[in-house]
Amino acid sequence: MLQIKNKIRAMILKRPRKKRENYSLKGAVQINRSSFFVFADSSGRTFLKTGKDEKLQKSIVQNMIDLNPKIKGLLKKYKIKPSIDTRTLKELSGGHMNETCNVAMGVYSCLPENLKCDIGKGIIKEASMLHDLGKVLIPSKILNKPAKLNIKEREIMNIHSTLGYELLKTQSLSEETLELIKYHHQNLKHTGYPEMEGNIYPSDIGVQIVSISDKYSALREARVYRRKLSRIEALLILYREVREGKIHPEVYNALVRFVQQSGI
Ligand SMILES: [Fe+2]
Ligand SMILES: [Fe+2]
Repeated sequence: MLQIKNKIRAMILKRPRKKRENYSLKGAVQINRSSFFVFADSSGRTFLKTGKDEKLQKSIVQNMIDLNPKIKGLLKKYKIKPSIDTRTLKELSGGHMNETCNVAMGVYSCLPENLKCDIGKGIIKEASMLHDLGKVLIPSKILNKPAKLNIKEREIMNIHSTLGYELLKTQSLSEETLELIKYHHQNLKHTGYPEMEGNIYPSDIGVQIVSISDKYSALREARVYRRKLSRIEALLILYREVREGKIHPEVYNALVRFVQQSGI
C-alpha cells in the first residue's frame, strides 16, 4: 500500500508544473470610453484586455511584484499583508480610472495652447488611466472603510501612488507616464505626497491635469463614507484649493469649461 502511495506521489511530483504566463503591461488605451490594458506575452504578441479579466490581472500584478523587490520591502515596512485585490482593480479600471481619464482628456482639450505644449496628450491619457493601480495592494478594509481613516491607515493609503509607480516601473511605460502616476497626489505648493525630490520631470501642469481630474472624478462618485457630490459642490471644493495656491487657476478654468460643455 505504502509503495503504491509513494508511486502516486512520485508521479505527481514528476508532472510538469503549469508555467505562469509571462505578460507585461505595455500601456493603457481607451476605446468607446472603456479602458483597456495593452499586454504583451513572452513572444512579443500584444493584445487588449479590459479590467474585467481578473485572472490575467492577478498574474500580471504578481509578475510586477516579482520583478521589483522594492515592492515587497514597502509592504513589509508598512506591515501590509501581500495580497492582490482584483475586485478593486476591476472596479478601478471599469470606473474611477476610466472616468479620471475622460475628465483629464476634457481638461487637456480646454487648456490654453501655451500650457499644452509642455506635456503630451498620450502621456496624460495613460497616466490618468493607470494612476491608482497601486490600490490593488492596499488592504480593502482600509480602502473601503466607511469612516475617516486614522493616522496609521492614512499613511498606508498614501503609499498607493508610490506602489503604483513601483509596480509599473518594470513595464514598458515611459518615464513621463510613471512620474505622473507617482505624483498624482502632489500640488503646486508641493505639500502633497510622496515628497518631490529636487527638480524632477513632471511638469506641474501635467501633475495638475491628472490630479484635478482625479479629484473631480472622485468627488462625483459615491463613496462608502459620503454621497456623490453635485457638479457645483465638487467645483467649489476644488476652487478652495485654487485659492490656497495648490491648483493652477488655468487648469481649474479648463475643468470648469469642460464641465459646462459636457455636463459631466
Ligand atoms: Fe490616488
Ligand atoms: Fe484616483
